[in-house]
Amino acid sequence: MLGGWLFGDTLAMPAFPPLDAPPLRLEPVSVEHAEEMHVVLADPSIYEFIDEDGPPTLEWLREAYARRAKGRSPDGSELWFNWMIRCDDGRLIGYAQATIESPEICWIAYVLSAEGRGQGHATRAVAVMIDYLRDAHDVRRLLASVDAGNARSIALLERLGFIGADADLARNFEIYGSGRLYVSPSASA
Ligand SMILES: CC(C)(COP(=O)(O)OP(=O)(O)OC[C@H]1O[C@@H](n2cnc3c(N)ncnc32)[C@H](O)[C@@H]1OP(=O)(O)O)[C@@H](O)C(=O)NCCC(=O)NCCS
Repeated sequence: MLGGWLFGDTLAMPAFPPLDAPPLRLEPVSVEHAEEMHVVLADPSIYEFIDEDGPPTLEWLREAYARRAKGRSPDGSELWFNWMIRCDDGRLIGYAQATIESPEICWIAYVLSAEGRGQGHATRAVAVMIDYLRDAHDVRRLLASVDAGNARSIALLERLGFIGADADLARNFEIYGSGRLYVSPSASA
């Protein structure tokens, strides 16, 4: 059974806490973020190395955020974390997310709009998310799947101590083609 800071389905409370990474604040996703994020996620540069398009409609994003705000998959087997990243000037610049399948399998992902890049914001946001996942949920290994050409994302992971996984491990997680698996250091031991 996965544990942690979860308030079940209590509607008024987020399923996981806000996190501070000055000058950023990570806000637990809610339906109310959809309108603002729909604009942020319209930046085409976000999708250069990601195998997806932006949200097709605002309504789609509202529904997706309603599901993600619950903090777990519908069958309860995974914990889902989605934080919207807000600068101290009030702008939303992206998001950080994690999926805990088990303490050894915790996937992370992150997106910043172009205007939020180049200032260390992704490093700050992802680092505080990882600290939280380790402290509150006993996560022992973090995983990230990244396109080999995504130099910014690889640089970010390496700054945070991740290393490229060997081919056997990558195959276990069905990472093929131009995808690369990165793992937090404890996984390679
Ligand atoms: C991946 C992504 C989040 C990385 O963003 P980023 O801006 O490169 O990363 P950071 O916010 O940590 O900023 C790093 C830059 O800030 C600079 N920086 C300034 N202060 C810094 C600090 N205190 N700490 C770290 N870096 C700092 C670094 O030197 C680096 O500069 P550079 O852009 O000249 O190399 C971003 O490129 C992105 O969202 N891309 C589109 C979506 C995507 O591909 N997501 C990943 C899918 S796997």
